[in-house]
Formats: sequence, C-alpha cells, structure tokens
Amino acid sequence: MPEPIDLAAFPHDFAWGTATAAYQIEGAVAEDGRSPSIWDTFSHTPGKVAGDDNGDVACDHYHRWREDIALMQQLGTNAYRLSVAWPRILPGGDGTVNAKGLDFYDALIDGLLKAGITPSVTVYHWDLPQVLQDRGGWPERDTAERFAAYASVVAERLGDRVHHWTTLNEPLCSAWIGHLEGLMAPGLTDLTAAIRASYHLLLGHGLATQAIRAAAPGAQVGIVNNLSTVQAVTERPEDIAAAHRMDGHTNRWWLDPVHGRGFPTDMREVYGVELPEYAGDLETIAQPLDWLGLNYYFPATVADDPKGPAPYARQVRRPGVPRTGMDWEIDATGIETLLLRLTHEYGARKLYVTENGSAFPDVVRPDGTIDDPERTEYLVQHLAACASAARKGAPLAGYYAWSLLDNFEWAYGYDKRFGLVHVDYRTQVRTIKGSGHRYADIIHSHRGHGRRAA
Ligand code: FCB
Repeated sequence: MPEPIDLAAFPHDFAWGTATAAYQIEGAVAEDGRSPSIWDTFSHTPGKVAGDDNGDVACDHYHRWREDIALMQQLGTNAYRLSVAWPRILPGGDGTVNAKGLDFYDALIDGLLKAGITPSVTVYHWDLPQVLQDRGGWPERDTAERFAAYASVVAERLGDRVHHWTTLNEPLCSAWIGHLEGLMAPGLTDLTAAIRASYHLLLGHGLATQAIRAAAPGAQVGIVNNLSTVQAVTERPEDIAAAHRMDGHTNRWWLDPVHGRGFPTDMREVYGVELPEYAGDLETIAQPLDWLGLNYYFPATVADDPKGPAPYARQVRRPGVPRTGMDWEIDATGIETLLLRLTHEYGARKLYVTENGSAFPDVVRPDGTIDDPERTEYLVQHLAACASAARKGAPLAGYYAWSLLDNFEWAYGYDKRFGLVHVDYRTQVRTIKGSGHRYADIIHSHRGHGRRAA
C-alpha cells in the first residue's frame, strides 16, 4: 500500500513525539513531599469524575519511568512532552523548594537524554497546588506571580538540559471548563471568576516566559492552545454570529492577547465582565514567542443559544459524521486549517502539534495483543493533514501524539483510552497497540525522506 502521508513534507529534523501530563500518569500523590493539587481535591469529590476515579496511582509512572522511556525508544520517537507537577516542586505553592520533587524530574530528563529523546517541558498542565486555590486560585493576580516564581525554580534546575519550554497547557480548559462549566478542577460555574482566571493565566504565561528566559538563556518558549475550527450550523445570521462568538471564545481570546492584539473587543462586550487590567499587562502577556503549540481534537459546529451560558452559542451534532469514543467528531481537515491559520493570520514562525489523538474502547486479544484500527486511522489521517499543511507553508517542526500511555482522562477517569500503549491498570503491564506499531513504522519511513532545511 502506498504511504498515505507525504512524509517528505516534514523537515529532516522533525520532532516525532508522544505527550503526557503529570497528574494523568504519575500517581505517587503523597510521596516525597508532594502536596495535594486542585485535581486531587476535585477527583476525590464524589460525583465529579466518572467512576469516582482519581490519579492516586494512575500509571505509576513515578516509579516506572525507566520502563516508559524504554517504550518511547521502542516506538522510535525522538521527542517527549511531559509536564512538571507544581505541588511536587513547591508544596506550599511558593516559598520552600522541595528538593525531592526536583530530583525526580532531574533524573527523568537525564534518562530521556541518555535514550536520545529530547524533552519538551510544560510548566503547568492544570495541577495548581490546592493551597493556592485556597488563596483564591487563578481568579487572583497573586497566582500569576506565584506561577512565574515556580517556573523560574524549574527552569533554573532543568534549563541546562531542557531547551524546549511550554508555559501553559490549554488555558481555555483551566478558565472555561474549570471556572465556567464546572467540569474540571476547581469546578466553579462563575463567569466573572472564569474571565479573571483567563486574564491571570495569560498574565502568568507572560511573566513565566520572562522568568524561564532569565533562568535559562536560550530557552525556546511557547504556549499550547487547544483550538477548533468553527462553522455555523445554518446560514441564518444568528447562527453565523454565534459561530463568530464561539471562534472568539475558543480561539481568538487565547491567541490575540499573546500576539499583541489585546483581548478581542467583541468578546469583552459579549462577556460584559471587566478585566482586572493594570498598565503594562498587555505588553507582558505579548512576549515574543519562539513557537506556538496546537492541540487539535475536533471541529465545532454551532447554533445561536441566547439563553445559554456565555458565549451564547451551543455545539450541535452533525448527523452522519464519524466520532471517537469521546463522542468527538473526527475531521482531519481541521488540523490543516488551524496550522495554516496560525501561519497566515498570526504569523507563526514555528509550530508544533503538541497533542492530537483519539480514544476508542480497546479489546485485548487472548494472545495479549491490541489491534486498534480506528485509532490508527485517526493518527494516519491527521498526520497526512499535517503534511499537507507543511506543503502549503506551515512551519511545522514536530508532532506529539496524545498519548504515550492510556491514562487518567480527567473527568472521564480511566474509561477513555488515548494511549499508543495500552495500560492494564490492575497489573500496570504496558503493551504497544497496533497504532503504536504504525507510528513506529511512520517514524522509521520518515528517516531518509525528510526535507532538508533550506
Ligand atoms: C487535552 C488535554 C490532555 C488530554 C487530552 C485528551 O485537552 O491537554 O491532558 O486529556 O485533551
């Protein structure tokens, strides 16, 4: 069968990676001085997470990371995106540094480098220390300042070996899903808190960018957003306006300020909440970035919803469109559209797909193997769309599959499996799925086919 992915569109030094996040895989929540995060609190609140699952053990990566690096090697990946747990580094939120927390990541980074895998470190993937939530959390300006201080500690320790840094993962989820929809930690449903959180997350991003660069000169710093293509369900002017609001809520609110355009005026009016602005903040938020990260999962089709919550637009199901086990629509053209939008509309000079992947129920065969044709197809289709974007000029430097392992999928618990590697949560046995083998083959074929840097 001819290779459906135009692999020659990718540069020869393309980052072929997998991604994870601390709370989703590490477990060991009470070990070596770690304090609780908002996700410990949320997941231990009955009814918040499917099956009342929590991250207490997760994939036990805290103890099994050597084995997990060996899996990355078996997949042939040359890059790995991980996040650092704030409550391991600063259990009090700020103040005293917990040496054992830093030691864990120090050893992990050394292990990756020894295996020929380049680490890409995310400073915040949603696990705010609970003590800082108790002081008001992201709706308070102080959290942005604490965040920068924490980023500085991490960059000082790891910055001699880690050159690739992400400040925030998907601030949209922290602000909108965590403070407006209440479906993620800290579980609030308060528009004012959500807007304030969004503002302080982006301020924290700007401050942390400065802090990382000061602690680790030469660091390549970026931010990771989850974006969606948005279309109106009908041609009715109300639906078209709703689609524009949803684009503002999902995409522009997060992209415009970091590109020096401020917070979109139309959305400020839609929300009707005053921003906690101080002079100079917008400049801080708009630090020049070395790269942008795109997490892409699904497109959005929306209808006007004047009585619903902000942004008064609701997602509708398109009949007949294939869906993943998350009930998310599958549309690979969205990843291409978004990569090109970041290139042309926002002038991105370097892009990474920092997450992309799919959950489907897996069946372990009697011989222990796992064949997952739907996940494999999703992977291939999306990589083909990435290659097409690269051909059309998107400066795509790498792709990180979500995820290396099946893991704690936030409010969905362990029920949804995104891994290229299957995890048996009873035994912690890891098994590379068919999709993982296919990924390894793709990476292998790319060697020798990559575009030489101009
Ligand atoms: C993203 C998150 C990641 C994972 C995937 C499925 O929103 O960044 O942690 O849960 O979704």
